[in-house]
Amino acid sequence: MSKPTSSTIAIPSIGDVPRHIAVIMDGNGRWARARHLPRVAGHRQGVESVRAVVKACAERGVEYLTLFAFSSENWRRPQEEVSLLMELFVRALQMEVKKLHKNAIRFRVIGDLASFSERIQNLVAESVALTRDNRGLTLTVAANYGGRWDILQAVNRLLAERPADSGPVREEELAACLSMSEVPEPDLFIRTGGEQRISNFLLWQLAYTELYFTDTLWPDFDAAALDVAIASYHRRERRFGRTSEQLAQHPVPQQ
Ligand code: IPE
Ligand code: IPE
Ligand code: MG
Repeated sequence: MSKPTSSTIAIPSIGDVPRHIAVIMDGNGRWARARHLPRVAGHRQGVESVRAVVKACAERGVEYLTLFAFSSENWRRPQEEVSLLMELFVRALQMEVKKLHKNAIRFRVIGDLASFSERIQNLVAESVALTRDNRGLTLTVAANYGGRWDILQAVNRLLAERPADSGPVREEELAACLSMSEVPEPDLFIRTGGEQRISNFLLWQLAYTELYFTDTLWPDFDAAALDVAIASYHRRERRFGRTSEQLAQHPVPQQ
C-alpha cells in the first residue's frame, strides 16, 4: 500500500464521501440506564450499531472506518464491567469476523494488546490474518488504545531503530511508526453521547479532521444518523491553513 499523505506536509485531495471516518462510540451506559437496564445491555445494543454503521459505510464507499471500543483509561472502570466488555469483545470476534470476511472487509486492531488475555490476542491475530487481503472497507478497532500511548510507542520504536547520529526526527519518520501509519488521516470524526472531547483517541491523526458531535447515544446511532453526520461534513470548508479565496481559485489542491 502506498504511504498516505500527511495533512501537514501536503494538502490532501478531498472526495465527496469521507475516505476515513473515526468514531468514539459513547453513551452505551446512559442508554441502558434510561431503560433501567444494566450497563452491559447498552454495550450489547452498541454491537448492533457497529453492525449497522459498518454496513452503511461499506455501502457508501467509505474506505476506512476506525472505531474506539476500549480506551487505555477504561481499565479504571469497575472490574465487572471490564470483564463483561472483554466477554462481549470475544463473542463479537467469534460471531462477526466470518461475516466481515464474506463482505470483503479488512479487519485490524490497534492498541496495546499485551494487556488482553491470550484468548483475545489469539482471536484478534486469527481475524486479522483471515481478512488481511480483503479489498473492501478497512475496519480498525481501537482496543486498549490511547493517543498518547501510540505516540510514545512510536517514539520508543524510533529510538530503538534509528542510528543515534541521524539528526532531528522528521514528521514522516514518526508517522511511519504510529499504529495508523498505513491509513490516511480521518476526514470525519464522530462522537456520539453528547460529550465534546477527544478522550485520548487519535491525537496525532486528528490534526485536520472535521469534528462532529451528536447527542445521539451510540446504541441509537444508525445509517440515517451516519448520513446526517456525512451531510454535516459536506457543509464544511476544509482549508488546511489556506484562505477561502485560495480555495475558490484552486479547488484542486496546489502545493
Ligand atoms: C461507550 O459507552 C463504550 C465504552 C467506553 C466501552 P460508555 O460505557 O462510556 O457509556 P456512557 O458514557 O457511560 O453512557
Ligand atoms: C471514550 O469513551 C472511549 C470509548 C468510547 C471506547 P469514555 O466514556 O471512556 O470517555 P470519557 O471518560 O467520558 O471521556
Ligand atoms: Mg462514556
